[in-house]
Amino acid sequence: MCGIVGYVGRRDCTDVLIDALSKLEYRGYDSAGIAVFENGSIKVAKSKGRLADLEKKMDEEERPLGNAGIGHTRWATHGEPSDVNSHPHSGERVTIVHNGIIENYKILKEFLVSQGRQFRSETDTEVVAQLLDYYYDGNPLDTIIKVMHELEGSFALGIVFADFCDTVYAVRCESPLIVGVGSDESFIASDVPAILKYTKDYYLLEHNEIAVLNNDGVKIFNLHKKEIEKELKTADWDMDAAEKGGYEHFMLKEIYEQPTAVRTTITPRISDGLPNLEECGITYDKLRNFENIYVVACGTAMHAGMVGKYIIEKLARIPVTVDIASEFRYRDPLVTDRDLVIIISQSGETADSLAAMRLAKNLGAQTLAIVNAKGSSIAREADMLIYTHAGPEIAVASTKAYMVQISVMYLLAFELALAAGKISEDECRRLTGLLQQTPEYISDLLEKKEAAQYIASSLITADSLLYIGRGLDYALSMEGSLKLKEISYIHSESYAAGELKHGTISLISDGMPVIAVATQTALLEKTISNIKEVKARGAKVVMVCRDSYEFENDIADYKFGLPDIDDIIMPMIAVVPLQLIAYYTSVLKGNDVDKPRNLAKSVTVE
Ligand code: AGP
Repeated sequence: MCGIVGYVGRRDCTDVLIDALSKLEYRGYDSAGIAVFENGSIKVAKSKGRLADLEKKMDEEERPLGNAGIGHTRWATHGEPSDVNSHPHSGERVTIVHNGIIENYKILKEFLVSQGRQFRSETDTEVVAQLLDYYYDGNPLDTIIKVMHELEGSFALGIVFADFCDTVYAVRCESPLIVGVGSDESFIASDVPAILKYTKDYYLLEHNEIAVLNNDGVKIFNLHKKEIEKELKTADWDMDAAEKGGYEHFMLKEIYEQPTAVRTTITPRISDGLPNLEECGITYDKLRNFENIYVVACGTAMHAGMVGKYIIEKLARIPVTVDIASEFRYRDPLVTDRDLVIIISQSGETADSLAAMRLAKNLGAQTLAIVNAKGSSIAREADMLIYTHAGPEIAVASTKAYMVQISVMYLLAFELALAAGKISEDECRRLTGLLQQTPEYISDLLEKKEAAQYIASSLITADSLLYIGRGLDYALSMEGSLKLKEISYIHSESYAAGELKHGTISLISDGMPVIAVATQTALLEKTISNIKEVKARGAKVVMVCRDSYEFENDIADYKFGLPDIDDIIMPMIAVVPLQLIAYYTSVLKGNDVDKPRNLAKSVTVE
């Protein structure tokens, strides 16, 4: 996933582009570049590395000076991170920035080479620049539309034509793009945080729409060159929401935002003490007749689905299959029109999850999306939609989004169980009440950061560690393991505690850390026996369990204590220590917590 920005107005364009890109570095940050109109011609500055490297290069060489231009921060897909592969890319008279994938770039490149065009980079983006240049007949809009008909794939483009000074063109074909509107200035951006410093008002470009920004303002066209009127939206995020708010990292800020995120997400969906998802177009009747439920997602979102599986099956007695989206879409799934497919996605732009949803729809299933990013592709294409209201999640490692995803899964499970007649209204009200209490419990746990720091200090020298649990605790151990891996770069694996003796216990060596999640009362003794198995073989065991649980030191070396609440709602609070442990381990390792190596916030490519 990459970040695109553009600007037309009275300010120093380079300053605006760099500032806006800094708010999008979470989307990709292995190279960056800008193209600015300066004295009637297009000046390009770009480099491998972070935005700071680009700024340093511009200070040393030449900083473009003008009032209109485009910019880009990259997460490499085609062509390794390098100066030449960084965006913008140019033809003779056209320069562009791109987010997405051009699936037919090879055949287009072959054609252009046959027409004598020469290429400098390995990117699919340069093919688009050269194709625009090839067709350019002096009319940018006609040229853009012609090229859009030839491209296959998902892309958002920022484009400038040398003949049309101080004019920026923007194209959306799947990949997200907004058009910000200020006073006598306008912007394009891949995401809202980029423009919040300047304006909260924006148009959401839809699929196959083209925006033209110049000093006369903004016009938006469809593929038939028809100008279209769009609703001007106002971002409900302020600058603070997109900044760190005094925390050292976005990730820590977002961990501490979880109580608010949960309240904001669930409160509007509860009336008279019961779940009420009607504002999302979901009624009891709609939920009543599904034979199977599939939950399809990637990464942390898939782990949220795992929690949902246990809850829905336990309460509603409906079979739930959880699938990794990249597996679901290629395994010819047995989905029918009697099934519900739930897609969970923070960004709403994850390519595999979007493709999986489209497959499910083609198979006749009802699709329900649980999405955080407003107006995202998954949100707009699902049959039913529940927005989570976590606000912008900037850190690559997802925390508050996961929390609100599982909170929605709880609401859905309660409603499904009530609709299926498996629980009474009183029981549903009791469970919903438990969910409403969790923000307080989360807040209390957030005060125990020293415990997490202590545990983290015991992990930083580990080569590898295990997260183990049973049932809901196993689902939680998956998320704890991923959090640790992706930001501390320490290998870990989540494992069903009861499965250890079937092979994996051979990994246990003297001093190897094992994080044992043990919140489920009915499974506690079983989990304890598994803990004893690893302890007896030299493991250093950290238990995440109720404070009230007393154990001998032959069981665990350390306990992260939890309040004594109902087993079924434990995932809402037990994940907090796992997040904090991962965070502080990464901090102690000196890693870039918010932008871990090799990762991007949303994987909009396969
Ligand atoms: C979470 O910490 C990871 N960054 C990653 O696994 C993420 O959850 C996954 O890529 C799915 O993203 P989505 O929720 O935006 O679809």
